[in-house]
Amino acid sequence: MASTDVTRQLDTNVRPLSMSGHVGFDSLPDQLVSRSTGQGFCFNILCIGETGIGKSTLMDTLFNTNFENSESTHFEPKVKLRAQTYQLQESNVQLKLTVVNTVGFGDQMNKEDSYQHVVKYIDAQFESYLQEELKIKRSLHNYHDTRIHACLYFIAPTGHSLKSLDLVTMKKLDSKVNIIPVIAKADTISKSELHKFKIKIMSELVSNGVQIYQFPIDDENVAKINTTMNSHLPFAVVGSTEEVKIGNKMVKARQYPWGVVQVENESHCDFVKLREMLICVNMEDLREQTHTRHYELYRRCKLEEMGFTDTDAENKPVSLQETYETKRQEFLFELQKREEEMRQMFVQRVKEKETELKDAERELQGKFEHLKRLHQEERVKLDEKKTMLEDEMSGFSKRKIAAELLQAQAFTGSMNIKKDKDRKNSGFM
Ligand code: GTP
Ligand code: MG
Repeated sequence: MASTDVTRQLDTNVRPLSMSGHVGFDSLPDQLVSRSTGQGFCFNILCIGETGIGKSTLMDTLFNTNFENSESTHFEPKVKLRAQTYQLQESNVQLKLTVVNTVGFGDQMNKEDSYQHVVKYIDAQFESYLQEELKIKRSLHNYHDTRIHACLYFIAPTGHSLKSLDLVTMKKLDSKVNIIPVIAKADTISKSELHKFKIKIMSELVSNGVQIYQFPIDDENVAKINTTMNSHLPFAVVGSTEEVKIGNKMVKARQYPWGVVQVENESHCDFVKLREMLICVNMEDLREQTHTRHYELYRRCKLEEMGFTDTDAENKPVSLQETYETKRQEFLFELQKREEEMRQMFVQRVKEKETELKDAERELQGKFEHLKRLHQEERVKLDEKKTMLEDEMSGFSKRKIAAELLQAQAFTGSMNIKKDKDRKNSGFM
């Protein structure tokens, strides 16, 4: 049975009854209001825009205060995000406001990965909320939720068209955050140019498939004003904390030699529209959209990535326990597979080493045999030389003895001749 049928059946099982007296649960909305007021609220705004485009001034103007502002340089090597949290109070309502500013946005020569730092920041806030949700001991009631509820995207008042950096950044962020585009420093562009610029921006956003935040029109209390305001997007804003006397009233304005631009004058700019929409009418919707749309998408993708699923291949519900078991089995199987692979690799390496060693041994043996043969040959040659020398030596000795013998014989002969002569001379003749 389909789930909608089940719901319908459950609904028909619920019987409407009338009560004969006051019970008191009609105070539930009041209880909710009083509990929420006691707990306080939290709202986080991300301001994306070039250095010096007027982010801090607009925030100060919006919240009627002076946030800590430090001017950024144009020489940041990469885009950074600076978050500051403040505790504000209006009547008896406490608001924990975090303002996150991009630092060095659009200042690098290569702007390709500018948006990545912003995406990373938004994801990191979702991730820490998810981690808190997944804890066994959760403390979401006093958790400081840093997820971005509204992203004010500051467009430079060029009157031309959106820069590719603007389009790419908004496209990358539109599924993660509620984007409210604003034309910054709108006092620097003429009325007719501004009108054309707004149309151009909206048509570029549509043709590039960028989904900006639409003020909700499903609640009939605000449907009318939100529909009107949607048609005024992007808001052209002017920021200033300077007060100027107009008539007998001090108003926020920017003074020029030719006149005064009043921030809160709706015929001068859309500042009031932005403040109404962002703070007075749709702050709760922005918070809700962040939780139910953007965070939900992040959570779903992240859990699916981790292997969790609600239904199996046959569309049957899968419990967390089953998913855990399946994952555990998959993990063990994978582990065994890796172990086996490593073992095989080890055996293979040992075999390779053995073959290498055997080859080296064979090579050495060959070299040894070769040297042995050479040595043998040398030895034979030496023996031959030795025999020759010995023969020569014995020949020489023989010749020497013969010579000596001859010499001795010759000596004896000559002595005998002399004796004969001597005898003859002494008269024996
Ligand atoms: P970084 O934080 O350094 O990136 O600058 P930022 O974007 O916060 O700009 P900031 O608010 O510091 O304003 C920069 C300059 O622009 C200041 O001189 C402001 O007075 C001026 N400025 C701010 N808002 C407006 C505006 O609406 N119109 C005009 N004409 N100038 C503005
Ligand atoms: Mg600033």
